[in-house]
Amino acid sequence: MIGLRRGLVRGARISALGIHVPERVLTNDEIGEFLDTSDEWITTRTGIRERRIARVDEAASDLGEVAARRCLESGGLAAEELDLVIVTTISPDHIMPATASIVADRIGAVRAGAFDIQAGCTGFVYGLAVATAFISANIYQNVLVIGAEVLSKMVDWEDRSTCVLFGDGAGAVLVQPCDNGCIFSFDLGNDGRGAQSLLVPAGGSRMPAGFDTVRRRDHAMHMTGSEVFKFATRTVVDSCRKVIADAGIGVDDIDLFVPHQANIRIIESASRRLGMTDAQVFANLDRYGNTSCASIPICLHEAGQTGRLKKGDTLLMAGFGAGLTWGSCLTRWEL
Ligand code: ACO
Repeated sequence: MIGLRRGLVRGARISALGIHVPERVLTNDEIGEFLDTSDEWITTRTGIRERRIARVDEAASDLGEVAARRCLESGGLAAEELDLVIVTTISPDHIMPATASIVADRIGAVRAGAFDIQAGCTGFVYGLAVATAFISANIYQNVLVIGAEVLSKMVDWEDRSTCVLFGDGAGAVLVQPCDNGCIFSFDLGNDGRGAQSLLVPAGGSRMPAGFDTVRRRDHAMHMTGSEVFKFATRTVVDSCRKVIADAGIGVDDIDLFVPHQANIRIIESASRRLGMTDAQVFANLDRYGNTSCASIPICLHEAGQTGRLKKGDTLLMAGFGAGLTWGSCLTRWEL
């Protein structure tokens, strides 16, 4: 029975957070030992200095499970109390079943439904929107949203234009009801005309796996970097302006802006055009690279730990990625 009643408006909030990143650090200099690239090129063009790399035997569910356990522990909630487990990822354990099914089983979320969201690097914001909708509609009380990525296994380590950008990690948030609407506004978008600019060509029904697809490295990420760059700088700004306007506030009212961590030049360009000061913008991609769906929760954790994000702050998050998709969310931080 769905407990949705006309006129009943219930908000949602992020009530707990947990992250997990692999121990192994891979520096730009180390990549320069086996590829024609340099720390100077990577740092100047992207802002990335190092990234974390999962073990050979680790998949997205392994990182996601640890982040989920830490999140539940910090929120003081037993896994059996979860109603729904959502994993957002572009590096799932398998095409089928959903990585969420595996994580839910491992943590003991025996009462919960489970599914994955695939929306490129925007997945975390999409996941947050879905969780908020389920809670606002009074369908569920406890929803876990996990961004989990092992992108080191999705890149071609001989393609210097992609492999230097990505890293591995996971972050999980618990979304629960909040009487006075702690999550204010969302903007989700998609422009499928850009689908070819960022994709893994093979392994799906369009190009099933075969000897040729492996030989051509078509199971790795292919990207037209400049297209994605232009798209990102434009849409992040438009989308952020929209959620700020929807909430009836101004850019000055944002205490912290946490954008998806793809490239420092994208972040700087977007924040400059939004009219934000450096103090309003958070970035840690120098140490983690682009961890796709995990990048925003990893930032939230560090921002909380370092005092950049405090209870009651107005927080703006923005993602963009394969699809091409984008999404922004404005919320009051309640941790
Ligand atoms: N080291 C040295 N040289 C390199 C490297 C490297 N790692 N990578 C590319 N180059 C070379 C190119 O071959 C090219 O050489 P050429 O001029 O002789 O042909 C030159 O550097 C310039 O290449 P560009 O692609 O024009 O470099 P650009 O300044 O655009 O930077 C980059 C490339 C960093 C990929 C940038 O386009 C970018 O960040 N794009 C956005 C990518 C992104 O964010 N993707 C993730 C989206 S989220 C998701 O859903 C996964």
